[in-house]
Amino acid sequence: MTVNVVAIDGPVGSGKSTVARALAERLGWSFLDTGAMYRAVTVRAIDDGIAIEDESAVTAIADRAVIDTVPRVVINGVDVEDRIRTDEVNQGVSIVATYQGVRQAMVRQQRSFALRQPHGTVVEGRDITTVVFPDAKLKVFLTASAEERTRRRGDEDAESVLRRDEIDSAREHSPLRHADDATMVDTTAKTVDEVVLEILKCLKPTL
Ligand code: DC
Repeated sequence: MTVNVVAIDGPVGSGKSTVARALAERLGWSFLDTGAMYRAVTVRAIDDGIAIEDESAVTAIADRAVIDTVPRVVINGVDVEDRIRTDEVNQGVSIVATYQGVRQAMVRQQRSFALRQPHGTVVEGRDITTVVFPDAKLKVFLTASAEERTRRRGDEDAESVLRRDEIDSAREHSPLRHADDATMVDTTAKTVDEVVLEILKCLKPTL
């Protein structure tokens, strides 16, 4: 049985969040930014004075975490929305996301979120098409040229963007890779609307 989910993966700056949010709006579905969840755990670890390299302490935080991402990113009742995209978090989050226990805790929450939604959910991240919702109605892998991706992440330096991609793609647990049956969309020279329409066209026969 397929779940009422459109799963979107792709590297930093490929347009995942913008496209997923716009698509959810078009469909009247919910939207889940799973990167924000890993970021929230990272903020919490920093606040608790835990070293990012301390896998068991970071995993304990993820196990206890209750995270909301809509309308704002909140972890255990604390609003961290304005703090999840700092340089410190950009650097720490790709380490936090390598920990298997952290990933298991996040995947549990992501699946339970989608099951609670009244219509459907557009979910974006790195392992959504391969691990979290391999049975999604539609799986999409977004790409864009490295130049365009670093341009889109204007507030993060190019080296940091590419380093994060490298860690996300090379890690042992749930690395970023495209599912064999994912629809590939290159967003480099396209508007958000064009990408959304392309995805809607693929989704239509499944609805
Ligand atoms: O999408 P983003 O840049 O906000 O993601 C932040 C980090 O979290 C990124 O380095 C990869 C990781 N991540 C992940 O491993 N799995 C996900 N489903 C989403 C994000």
